[in-house]
Amino acid sequence: MMGSRWVLLLLLGLWMAEESRGDADPYLLDQIVPLGELLGFQEPALGRDPRNLSSYDFIVVGGGTSGCTLASRLSEDPRRSVALIEAGGVENLGHLTPLLSSYTQLTASNWGFKSVPQNASCLGMNHRQCALPRGKVLGGSSSINTMIYNRGNRRDYDGWAAAGNPGWSYQEVLPYFLRSERAHLEGLEQSPYHNHSGPLSVEFVRYRTKLAEAFVEAAVEAGLPLTDYNGESQNGVSYVQATTLNGRRHSAYSAYIQPVRDLRPNLHIFTFARVTRLLVDEASKTAYGVEFLHKNQSYVFRALKEVILSAGVFGSPQILMLSGIGPEKDLRALGIPLVQALPVGRRMYDHISHFGPTFVTNTSRQTNYFSRVTTTDVLSFYTDSKADTRMSSIGGVEALAFLKSNRSELPPDWPDIEFMMTAGSLASDEGTGVKMGANFKDEVYEKLYKELAKSEQDHFTLLVMLFHPRSVGRLWLKDRNPFSPPQLDPHYYTEDRDVEVVLDGIKAALRISEMPALQRIGARLLNRIVPGCEDFQFASDDYWRCSIRTLSFTIYHQVSTCRMGPRIDPHAVVDHRLKVHGMRRLRVVDASIVPVIPAAHTNAVAFMIAEKAADMIRDEWGSSD
Ligand SMILES: Cc1cc2nc3c(=O)[nH]c(=O)nc-3n(C[C@H](O)[C@H](O)[C@H](O)COP(=O)(O)OP(=O)(O)OC[C@H]3O[C@@H](n4cnc5c(N)ncnc54)[C@H](O)[C@@H]3O)c2cc1C
Ligand SMILES: *[C@@H]1O[C@H](CO)[C@@H](O)[C@H](O)[C@H]1NC(C)=O
Ligand SMILES: *[C@@H]1O[C@H](CO)[C@@H](O)[C@H](O)[C@H]1NC(C)=O
Ligand SMILES: *[C@@H]1O[C@H](CO)[C@@H](O)[C@H](O)[C@H]1NC(C)=O
Ligand SMILES: *[C@@H]1O[C@H](CO)[C@@H](O)[C@H](O)[C@H]1NC(C)=O
Ligand SMILES: *[C@@H]1O[C@H](CO)[C@@H](O)[C@H](O)[C@H]1NC(C)=O
Ligand SMILES: *[C@@H]1O[C@H](CO)[C@@H](O)[C@H](O)[C@H]1NC(C)=O
Repeated sequence: MMGSRWVLLLLLGLWMAEESRGDADPYLLDQIVPLGELLGFQEPALGRDPRNLSSYDFIVVGGGTSGCTLASRLSEDPRRSVALIEAGGVENLGHLTPLLSSYTQLTASNWGFKSVPQNASCLGMNHRQCALPRGKVLGGSSSINTMIYNRGNRRDYDGWAAAGNPGWSYQEVLPYFLRSERAHLEGLEQSPYHNHSGPLSVEFVRYRTKLAEAFVEAAVEAGLPLTDYNGESQNGVSYVQATTLNGRRHSAYSAYIQPVRDLRPNLHIFTFARVTRLLVDEASKTAYGVEFLHKNQSYVFRALKEVILSAGVFGSPQILMLSGIGPEKDLRALGIPLVQALPVGRRMYDHISHFGPTFVTNTSRQTNYFSRVTTTDVLSFYTDSKADTRMSSIGGVEALAFLKSNRSELPPDWPDIEFMMTAGSLASDEGTGVKMGANFKDEVYEKLYKELAKSEQDHFTLLVMLFHPRSVGRLWLKDRNPFSPPQLDPHYYTEDRDVEVVLDGIKAALRISEMPALQRIGARLLNRIVPGCEDFQFASDDYWRCSIRTLSFTIYHQVSTCRMGPRIDPHAVVDHRLKVHGMRRLRVVDASIVPVIPAAHTNAVAFMIAEKAADMIRDEWGSSD
């Protein structure tokens, strides 16, 4: 038994050592055969050397969820040349291992951004700064995320269409969700809401704890129906659907690029290549190329048809503003010549959550402590064709519930709260992964979770997430240096109502914990006091309000920094065809165009956006010259 921990730590160590080279000397990594290749998982890195002043029909900036999808679809036509330019490297064995997903945040595959210090939230984080991770690797955030597959509510998309974005209603976007999906979901084989022949694998997580079974049963006892939350009706409870293939991560890279990259001479992929600005003809407001840095050298590529920004919710607005497209006053203050005044970065929505409540149970050996991973788990995960060990657990998340708070004024079929049932907490990895990834203070770990970790006490956590925040964040440039991180103010909980909705959610979670199925495993609230909330009576409303502002944990769904909307909309950056207002031959295709945050995790949405954009771009340029 002791051996297994060492096997896991050894793998982790090797992987992180390999990854950390990325920071010191990014392009060296490009030449190293990734660890995974030795075990037959991955091929050597892709680094193609750029040829200066090359021309491509389409230049896709950023190889994340949307960028990989779009580059793959556009290059299906052999007559179209496509360049995909990505700042990071390629995935390796570590990324493929779902249990280790939080560790990817500690490597060079994460941009590692932090929020500006918050006043109304992130009180449990060092310097009141919430960590805001983003993928910096081919596959983007889909290579470091938690792999939850969730599309959202039909009302979300109907709302987008009603706000002046024709083509984006639920009926119109559903085919694009389907186009990307290859479902292997037992029991849903006949569902019209799932496709079985798209590129992206979607599965139920095969590894399941008794804690998850008890939670699902208790939620049903509390009145939530069992549901397919990607199907007819979102409200209810379900085991989680994940973007994994045979229990291993299936990222945008593995789904869309890896299978075709050696077969398409018209698709050129560049890693460790960082775009610093767009080339724009100011008179005609036409984008005609990009400038990027690779191995310390500056290169220029020209676009014969379009430049498409898929650099993500932080990268795309940053590149626009560095190129003179953004809020006029801000750009002038930084000395960036204005090309087009637009409200870039002026809105940023996110799904904030409360990391808890945590419940202890009287089960044995269920919670995902790393120390419980056995050598057999590790070996069979890496060698079996269907990995179903603890290693396949997507960071411990096993079930989701969608429900309405008592405060909700929305129609009954539109949830405002989600629970993420996780067979663990900051204790599961003994404070080495999630705590550091989220920037939690040591004190939070020590006072709340350390005892649990020491005694390996079984427990689970219901993260309570807010779907429709009223607080709105913002992104802006610090200076005109393309290497300065964008400034990020998520502004969580600046509207008190958001706190009250989460408080409602916590109460609903407590109610579920009292149901017979959870009482049978002795579930009771972890009775430790959140640091900073000592002045309140434990588990009183005010105590929870304090806890909500302290354990404020992003679910990483930042969107809207290049918001879609009609020209008359003062918050819009792109139109319904994702073209930047006032510009030519320039689109944004990624999660930053989302006009209003949906009741969903945002990865599936980013796939859908790119699938739809591929159709629009093909329509526009025809299929021949
Ligand atoms: C830790 C974490 C956990 C998450 N968990 C889930 C989950 O479980 N389920 C879910 O649905 N969603 C989840 N999400 C959110 C989801 O993964 C993202 O919303 C989605 O991947 C966004 O896709 P995108 O294409 O907009 O951006 P990204 O996938 O982030 O891609 C942007 C790409 O552009 C590259 N780039 C940026 N700037 C430049 C530049 N200047 N030059 C070149 N390249 C550049 C980046 O390196 C990156 O590869 C999570 C996100 C994170 C970070
Ligand atoms: C927090 O409050 C201080 C003092 O009022 C203010 O200067 C700062 O801008 C606020 N920060 C945010 C992120 O709102
Ligand atoms: C399933 O996906 C394939 C590949 O993307 C697509 O051609 C097909 O139309 C999709 N089927 C449905 C029912 O959406
Ligand atoms: C890249 O350029 C920077 C700054 O010009 C320099 O410090 C660094 O040593 C260079 N790296 C390599 C590998 O040439
Ligand atoms: C590429 O061309 C640009 C523009 O002519 C030039 O500034 C740059 O130095 C060239 N880069 C390399 C690597 O030759
Ligand atoms: C919501 O309201 C119902 C009915 O008024 C009540 O029974 C329930 O306890 C409330 N739930 C919460 C979480 O406050
Ligand atoms: C767990 O607690 C419940 C409720 O007290 C009890 O019925 C059950 O027997 C306990 N199980 C174990 C294994 O101790």
